[in-house]
Amino acid sequence: MTNKRIVLSSDHAAIGMRQTIADHIKAQGWEVVDIGPTTPESTPYPQHGEAAARRVASSDCALGIILCGTGQGIMMAANKVKGVRCGVCSDAFSARMIRQHNDANLLSLGARVIGDALALDIVDAFLNADFEGGRHATRVDMITAIEER
Ligand code: RB5
Repeated sequence: MTNKRIVLSSDHAAIGMRQTIADHIKAQGWEVVDIGPTTPESTPYPQHGEAAARRVASSDCALGIILCGTGQGIMMAANKVKGVRCGVCSDAFSARMIRQHNDANLLSLGARVIGDALALDIVDAFLNADFEGGRHATRVDMITAIEER
């Protein structure tokens, strides 16, 4: 991937893991756009999922990583934004596959589900995989078509 600008966002449940991921991927040359939050007060995950998703949908960022307690709620919010394909992953194989087969542009992680070391493995798998196109493109186009109905 030539555009290495990536948005990071979370709710209060995942601030520490988000920072760990930011440090890890900055060291790999990614330009991190961390849109918070930075303070530990409880904050609703939908607004943070939507904000990150809009950065990707507008092409301001090539990819995004979002986090909440389970990764589920923030993923659901992000997927409401047109053009976004986001999956929750708790293993590296799935993270690679959502790039290669589903052309996912956001990855969601559950900070209360997995530990930091596994999260970094998952992030590496996601960021080092590319969409394979071909028959997978046809299927991704079918997902996009749902947005028009
Ligand atoms: C916050 O307590 C929690 O509900 C949230 O982080 C997330 O797990 C929702 O899906």
